[in-house]
Amino acid sequence: MGTGVVIVAAGSGKRMGGERNKLWLPLAGEPILAHTVRVFATHEKIDEIVLVVSRQDHADVLAWLDRENIRLTVVLGGAERQDSVRNGLSALSDDCSYVLVHDAARPFVTREQISGMIGQVQHDQATIMAVPVKDTIKVVGPTGIVESTPARESLWAVQTPQAFRMSLLREAHRAAAEAGKVGTDDAMLVEWLGHSVTVMQGSYENIKITTPDDLWFGEEIMRKRKGE
Ligand code: CTP
Ligand code: MG
Repeated sequence: MGTGVVIVAAGSGKRMGGERNKLWLPLAGEPILAHTVRVFATHEKIDEIVLVVSRQDHADVLAWLDRENIRLTVVLGGAERQDSVRNGLSALSDDCSYVLVHDAARPFVTREQISGMIGQVQHDQATIMAVPVKDTIKVVGPTGIVESTPARESLWAVQTPQAFRMSLLREAHRAAAEAGKVGTDDAMLVEWLGHSVTVMQGSYENIKITTPDDLWFGEEIMRKRKGE
């Protein structure tokens, strides 16, 4: 009844605009990647970790893990995030009945949130972390004209971790790959199977570091957590 995690780090960070993958950028003096890996590596309920990286980062990641004395499985990612998750899933052992998928670019996930997801997935089989949207969201057509305004009460902004029974997520990825379908998160692939997905309320601090603005916001979150 083990639990594994696939941490996807194989992007290139195009929207950040740097020369290197954004995950090497410092946050409170350490790479973003270090914060994310540490919270899972030190979590007593996580039995296996697979870190998915790009070919460009592979050697640097291995050297960094060695320096930090962190032992986990490293595999290469693919062109799309979905390919990276799929590669990560195949590297987890069959001892894992449950799997969490997490973006390396979300370093603010907490131990308590991880524990909460692990508890919830054993009951629900598929559960995702999300927060209610604060803005009104409009559907805008290709010509820039508003088409509709969905009721805000029903809209949630989705984060990671997302947690699944291992066999369910593997099946969902296999079915999506066979059908040539690409989803924007893992839950979508499970929804395509007709399986229900539950939502656990996350935190507005669990941001994804995507553009340069997110870096200073991230530093503020770190300062707040350190009690400064
Ligand atoms: N990711 C991945 N494999 C890909 C693309 C993305 O493992 N082919 C990972 C990223 O490393 C990141 C997470 O998925 O941790 C969420 O993706 P995103 O924030 O979009 O990161 P990037 O794809 O690197 O950034 P951008 O889209 O700006 O290029
Ligand atoms: Mg991306």
